[in-house]
Amino acid sequence: MVTPMKIINIIGAIVLSLLAVVSADVFFEERFEDGWEKWWVISDWKKHENRAGKWNYTSGRWSGDPVDKGIQTSEDNRFYAISAEFPEFSNKDKTLVFQFSVKHEQKLDCGGGYMKLLSGKVDQKKFGGGTPYSIMFGPDICGESTKKVHAIVSYNGSNYFLKKDVPCATDRLTHVYTFILKPDATYTILIDNVEKRYGSLYSDWKILPPKKIKDPKAKKPDDWDDQEYIPDPEDKKPEGYDDIPVEIPDTDAKKPEDWDDEEDGEWTPPKTVNPKYKGPWKQKTIKNPNYMGEWKAPMIDNPDFKDDPDIYVYHHLRYVGIELWQVKSGTLFDNVLVCDDPEYAKQLAEDTWGKHKDAEQIAFDEAEKRREEEESMSDAVDSDEDEDFDDAEGDGYDEEASEETDRDGWAADDAHDEL
Ligand SMILES: *[C@@H]1O[C@H](CO)[C@@H](O)[C@H](O)[C@H]1NC(C)=O
Ligand SMILES: *[C@@H]1O[C@H](CO)[C@@H](O)[C@H](O)[C@H]1NC(C)=O
Repeated sequence: MVTPMKIINIIGAIVLSLLAVVSADVFFEERFEDGWEKWWVISDWKKHENRAGKWNYTSGRWSGDPVDKGIQTSEDNRFYAISAEFPEFSNKDKTLVFQFSVKHEQKLDCGGGYMKLLSGKVDQKKFGGGTPYSIMFGPDICGESTKKVHAIVSYNGSNYFLKKDVPCATDRLTHVYTFILKPDATYTILIDNVEKRYGSLYSDWKILPPKKIKDPKAKKPDDWDDQEYIPDPEDKKPEGYDDIPVEIPDTDAKKPEDWDDEEDGEWTPPKTVNPKYKGPWKQKTIKNPNYMGEWKAPMIDNPDFKDDPDIYVYHHLRYVGIELWQVKSGTLFDNVLVCDDPEYAKQLAEDTWGKHKDAEQIAFDEAEKRREEEESMSDAVDSDEDEDFDDAEGDGYDEEASEETDRDGWAADDAHDEL
């Protein structure tokens, strides 16, 4: 029986949980339900060259919830660009959370799975690779060398790559990528609600010069002893050590019976290794009692560092966009979120990906089993001459040599990676 007191408690709990939800500012949330096309704009970028790929509104070939759809790249070797607008806001003094889920159903060998936040006024019909953005975040895979999470931030008109390596998921299931940027300029990257990287805009991007540098004027003192080991003065070369010959006559050797001293000359026994010979003498080393360790210049404040407390601020955030090049299509995006509350984002991830991930794994395993059965059946039916035809079909399952595609702009990555 429910007493009035309990009812009050229940109401209280509801009010509290509503407050918890209300405290989040959600600037954009897209679950790709009916009507999504009304506010997403497909760009005309690459269209006239016939290189713009089509999006497929689908839950994919396997899914934890077939009713829950997202948008999926559906044509190989194509460019993709799509964006949606939200009421402009600034993240000044606010935590910024950017999150979405992505599933690479193809065995992705070269292609991005990242999204962008754009600022100011953008002509969405022209949105493309050259459109300036504020943040680009998400997984990128190309060949064996690139399997990372990008977190590129723009500052004062330039783009800065994250200097730290954050590996991305490489399987063919849905994963949630979250980027959190706080007013103290710290950031967190999560995959599937698990923290993968935490750090600061100051240290993990090369945006501003470092706060501290090694004192360029400092010099190693002359009497700084950085020799860790020294020869052992107690260890002396034994008397006569150098007189021991390397080889000695083999005393076991016998003069052959048919040796004729007159014809063959005087017989001398062959030489053999001298077991007493131990190689050139080496003095033992001991730990240097005066060792002072490796010398390091002291760190001082960098005179070139000028702080910008607004280093994390984007004043006119206004769009989310996906702009990709894909060699092989099949990447499915869903549950896009821009908000100010990591807890809200975590809950959304749990309610979507978290709720359906086990069912998705089962659906995937079943799809794989079906494919294997179909393959072995067609193998049994097919004669050898059909083989070439099968390969040409390229169903996306073969382990192919990865195709390294050189995409503009990536070369800058390495340049930024070194500190
Ligand atoms: C869209 O995706 C579904 C599910 O994977 C697939 O059956 C369908 O053929 C796709 N449509 C296009 C146009 O690619
Ligand atoms: C911003 O860019 C301008 C022009 O490139 C440059 O002069 C200025 O020093 C930059 N400011 C910072 C803080 O990087």
